[in-house]
Amino acid sequence: MGERDRRLRERAARVIPGGLWGHMNVDGFSPDYPQFFERAEGCTLWDVDGARYIDFMCSWGPVVLGHKHPAVEAAVDRQRALGDAMNGPAPALVDLAELLVETIPFADWALFQKNGSDATTACVTIARAGTKRRKILAARGSYHGAVPWCSPSLAGVTAEDRAHLILFDYNDIESLETAVKAADGDLAGIILTAFKHDYGADQFMIDPAFLARARQLCDAQDAALILDDVRAGFRLDLRGSWAPVGVQPDLAAFSKAIANGYPLAAVVGSDRFRAPASFGKVFVTGSFWYGAVSMAAAVATIETLRDDGVIAHTAAMGQRLRDGLAGLAGKHGLGLRQTGPTQMPMVLFDDDPKFARGNAFCNAALKAGAYFHPRHNMFLSAAHTPALIDRALEAAEVGMAAAAQVSAREMAAS
Ligand SMILES: Cc1ncc(COP(=O)(O)O)c(C=O)c1O
Repeated sequence: MGERDRRLRERAARVIPGGLWGHMNVDGFSPDYPQFFERAEGCTLWDVDGARYIDFMCSWGPVVLGHKHPAVEAAVDRQRALGDAMNGPAPALVDLAELLVETIPFADWALFQKNGSDATTACVTIARAGTKRRKILAARGSYHGAVPWCSPSLAGVTAEDRAHLILFDYNDIESLETAVKAADGDLAGIILTAFKHDYGADQFMIDPAFLARARQLCDAQDAALILDDVRAGFRLDLRGSWAPVGVQPDLAAFSKAIANGYPLAAVVGSDRFRAPASFGKVFVTGSFWYGAVSMAAAVATIETLRDDGVIAHTAAMGQRLRDGLAGLAGKHGLGLRQTGPTQMPMVLFDDDPKFARGNAFCNAALKAGAYFHPRHNMFLSAAHTPALIDRALEAAEVGMAAAAQVSAREMAAS
């Protein structure tokens, strides 16, 4: 651990419970993983001790064009010079809503928030208001946010908070049908992530037959099919991640990549849910939900994604990384599973339930200059070039050599 990072952690431990809340706490990683960063540019990160890394987390999803993308920064500068938090929104609000309605086929309207949890919760609220029913069906293990109705931790959550949540298994039609029966005529909606991207597990795509059945079940009861596209949105398909499958949700939540790192979330919906989402019906709002800078950033981000073919580029760079890692794993005789879309890779070693080999790989690669994650899916950006992927693969080679040193016994015991 670098000296400045160590000192900052010590100070933080005194004034911040546990040193840092939430998903960015590096507790459980090797101490070599920096907790604090000084700056970022493109897909390069500098920690507070001056070490430099090629970044494969992209701030855990938001940075899709690369840090400090010129078109986004120019839009931000223009809007900041005019005003950000004012007594009402700037014209950028309408520009952005129009852009989303134009880009996403099932979207007839849009509302904006700050975080993904705000957006998924607003979807649930609108679904309940629109159907006048209570039950929400969600897949076991899927993450929809850090709020009581869906938080993965039950600390501070009451049974009442979960009273109207029914779980089913993703891609399992029978399990979904059982959950619908359990809702017993009180079904408000079914919420599903774009694909299955759980922490520490192989990723898999949604089964089109399962999604079609979910659509049918919602139609039969006039309930809402909700797409949680917070993590995958604007990374797989600009029209929404289910566009290639051809099934349209009624409501969808977006955040993360929508504004290239500026804080913003969006709910879009079809006309079926326009009335309950309207002013005077549900009360969804927040002090910072009207900020103009993030909206200007989002317009510039989505236009750049659309005009520069970024999704194809990130998929190709992810494929280059995937091919390279597969080659290195083969060379070292290591079983590696690389799952999910290439632009959102999950990389896990075989027979490594406690991630001992994954940690060894990541720690050594980190020291050699590539910032990978041993358990969470990673993210590519427009700033990843073939040359940078190849440099990262050199670091990964060091990581694979370290991973090969971890014995089967250590993997079982750690
Ligand atoms: C699929 C999904 N939904 C919702 C959320 C919550 O978003 P936020 O952390 O911005 O509240 C996340 C965050 O990782 C997510 O991946």
